[in-house]
Amino acid sequence: MTDHVLTQLADGVLSVSLNRADKKNAITQAMYEALAAATERAQTDPAVRVILFRGEGDAFSAGNDIGDFIALGSQGAGPDDMPVFRFLKALAHLEKPAVAAVRGRAVGIGLTLLLHCDLVVVAEDALLSAPFVNLALAPEAASSLLLPAIVGHPRAFEIFALGEPISGVKAEQWGLANRAVPAAEVDALAFELAGKVAARAPNSIRKTKALMRDAERMWALMLREGEAFGSQMRSPEAMEAFMAFSQKRAPVFATGD
Ligand code: COA
Repeated sequence: MTDHVLTQLADGVLSVSLNRADKKNAITQAMYEALAAATERAQTDPAVRVILFRGEGDAFSAGNDIGDFIALGSQGAGPDDMPVFRFLKALAHLEKPAVAAVRGRAVGIGLTLLLHCDLVVVAEDALLSAPFVNLALAPEAASSLLLPAIVGHPRAFEIFALGEPISGVKAEQWGLANRAVPAAEVDALAFELAGKVAARAPNSIRKTKALMRDAERMWALMLREGEAFGSQMRSPEAMEAFMAFSQKRAPVFATGD
């Protein structure tokens, strides 16, 4: 149990709030467990029509907790030991609609989670980034397929390789979000859209979503990405990147082999 993820069900909308504002909602192992449980509940609980992801504080999420990367990298953990894969599996197979309300930073899985949401509302001044290469990692959450499919290869490669953030306005222009609005309006609009979807015919919505995506292909890709991500996570270059983040300095990468 963690109080770093809060859930609330009202009018068919299960809202899932990341609640670790002092760490910019960086996601720990316990939080992935809670996110997985909420997503699994959304799938199986008939009272849930829509799941909505949001963040408390001024960030959506700073992505995976980097301290956890250090711990897991030194343990040599694989997909079966990592709660993140339970969450990704539930996301890949989720048949009900997912909505995201994004204010502030959305980093790493904070961005790649959005690729699994069916409606995304962002703040105009949100900053979305996927700095996997900056951390000497590799894309995850089927983002190696989904991001280029949405924004095109050159833009996706730049997002992965340079790790620089794009604004909410650009995210809407590039098709990553349905609406970009002032930050103060994000939650209200996301709940409004979620409420509209929750009132639609549930089986029709589910079949529509199922026809639009291939869950098994996505899950297979997530596992394949997990191999590259996992071996990078245990690499000296990634350890250097994680230590540099912890020590608030720039990483220095040795020549690759
Ligand atoms: N893992 C662990 N702790 C994190 C974190 C993460 N992913 N992101 C932020 N934090 C912590 C910071 O270490 C800091 O902790 P401290 O107050 O104990 O020093 C606190 O959250 C606030 O972060 P800070 O960096 O001071 O905020 P900022 O507004 O200057 O910058 C970010 C926000 C998100 C740009 C910056 O924190 C960042 O780059 N985080 C890492 C993002 C990342 O690479 N995630 C992994 C993606 S795969």
